[in-house]
Amino acid sequence: MTPRSGVSSSGEHPRRPIVSGNWKMNHDHMAALHLVRDLGLRLGAKSLGKLEVSIHPPFSDLRTVQLLVEGDSLPIALGAQHCNPEDSGAFTGEVSPPMLSRLGVSYVIVGHSERRLGFGMSDEVVATTLRGVVRHQMVPILCVGETAEERQAGRTEPRLAFQLESAVAKMDPERLANLVVAYEPVWAIGAGRPASTVDASDAATFLRKVMTSLLGSEVADSVRIQYGGSVNAENAQDFVAEPDIDGLLVGGASLQAEGFADIVESVAACYGSSS
Ligand code: PGA
Repeated sequence: MTPRSGVSSSGEHPRRPIVSGNWKMNHDHMAALHLVRDLGLRLGAKSLGKLEVSIHPPFSDLRTVQLLVEGDSLPIALGAQHCNPEDSGAFTGEVSPPMLSRLGVSYVIVGHSERRLGFGMSDEVVATTLRGVVRHQMVPILCVGETAEERQAGRTEPRLAFQLESAVAKMDPERLANLVVAYEPVWAIGAGRPASTVDASDAATFLRKVMTSLLGSEVADSVRIQYGGSVNAENAQDFVAEPDIDGLLVGGASLQAEGFADIVESVAACYGSSS
């Protein structure tokens, strides 16, 4: 295991690591109840130190999970997978940022590649959604990542820069100090084949460089960067050992309490805070 200091590459701004579980369209509210109870028991027994854990169930589970997390004071932050940018209106089937914040949601995934590619979420809508989330005092987890074709064509960095820039354009940098950016190469998601730690680390360092020029070094040093794509308990530590990777966005491996708790524990150990 490679321990890490938990400080930025500049050594000036410690960042609080964060591991997030994206359940996608899995688990109804009864299954959610069982999973969160189990997870709460497992995580409650560990010392997570400064490590933050968020879970992102489907909308229909949020109230159930909220009651459980608050009632049992679990060391878990409530997250959502998506939302509409508007506060209210004639948007059939959608859920708004204030609805989520009233439910105690603190993190919202914005612009996951499954939304971008499967539901036509444009870069412009990603940007307005990000603004909607921030307007309601929640923290966006902004997903960026190149497709296999873009990587093969050597267009990874321009793609990442464009996605990041278009999402935060015209926003006051001060409102983005809490931002989480998830680097998720599209080809690694659900593939059982993660990016190499070198590629993930290079992408994270590049993203921080772009953020420095867009938002200034103080904000860029406080933004947390996650890696996501086929993360499991065996490879989790390899990613967070990298100085610019501050956490993980986990899909499939977050669907079971034991596997997800193992990931959380191994990340906490990397930061020297597991028991
Ligand atoms: P995966 O999904 O861990 O199942 O690859 C990650 C994600 O889509 O966030």
